[in-house]
Amino acid sequence: MPLVFREDLPMKLVSILCAAALAATVGAVRAQDAFPSQPITIVVPFAAGGPTDTVTRLIAEPMSKELGQQVVIQNVAGAGGTLAAGQVAKASPDGYTILMHHIGMSTAPTLYRNLDFDPVTAFATVGLVTNVPMTLIARKDFEPNTLEELVTYVKANKDTVVYANAGIGAASHLCGMLFMNAIDTAVTTVPYKGTGPAMTDILAGEVDFMCDQSTNTTGQIKGGEVKVYAVTTPERLGNLPDVPTTTEAGLPGFQVGVWHGLYAPAGTPEATVEKLSAALQKALADPTVIERFAELGTAPVAADQATPAAHKTYLADQIALWKPIIEKAGVFAD
Ligand code: MLT
Repeated sequence: MPLVFREDLPMKLVSILCAAALAATVGAVRAQDAFPSQPITIVVPFAAGGPTDTVTRLIAEPMSKELGQQVVIQNVAGAGGTLAAGQVAKASPDGYTILMHHIGMSTAPTLYRNLDFDPVTAFATVGLVTNVPMTLIARKDFEPNTLEELVTYVKANKDTVVYANAGIGAASHLCGMLFMNAIDTAVTTVPYKGTGPAMTDILAGEVDFMCDQSTNTTGQIKGGEVKVYAVTTPERLGNLPDVPTTTEAGLPGFQVGVWHGLYAPAGTPEATVEKLSAALQKALADPTVIERFAELGTAPVAADQATPAAHKTYLADQIALWKPIIEKAGVFAD
């Protein structure tokens, strides 16, 4: 906006005001140019050691290299990921506190009746990261051996079997809900702060089964530490070629992939968001990241999806996609 001064102001005062306005403008531009001038924190909305944490840590190092600043991971677990999202929504919009979140960002607005943030207006989308397949697994000594047997067993023992998840809004919650809907049987669920700790209890035999991302289950499946029934993708996974798809194993409608994205608080300068996005794109093209993702059953999104615009469109589409499915399932939280 142009500066207009009253005609009767002394020239000296006009010069001082002009200098101050110029300094403020230059300062703001420099602050953006200088970004990042301090460490960046990526908030992970689930416990350390779980799948969201794993994906975030894999991209943090190459992003840090690209940005020339330390990238710190902070785990803020609780309320199926909505606790952390609510915190980052209210963080200073300067690009130094950002959020990694997954499909839960698109299911939470329907699942939660009193969400304290709007996923669409509270954030600036930075870019999509990856789309992780899910695997239906169980403790090693759980009786059923195939998906077909699992369905029969769960139906027959619905009052005693226990499903683990990471709370309402988590991918493991969504996947469990889809499974229970598909077989028209609800079972007891135990919520954890993430599927990292839930996996610990599966391994200890404390809970029976779980639907969780391949980034958290591949090691245990390959090591024979858990039983696996199916992957929730249309095709088998390259890293787990012997595991049938849900369609092959008898539940054709039961498919879900867990997409992840990076978010900055709304109001973050566009130039800052673009720098974060460019660093994300660089990280996703890193051969070590691609290799590690493949070992865990996933892949980075295409470069044109790791952009603010593609992510924004995808988020809106996913909110619209999941709304009627969740409403039909009738699962809500306050
Ligand atoms: C995690 O990181 O613990 C998971 O993403 C939780 C989930 O969404 O199931």
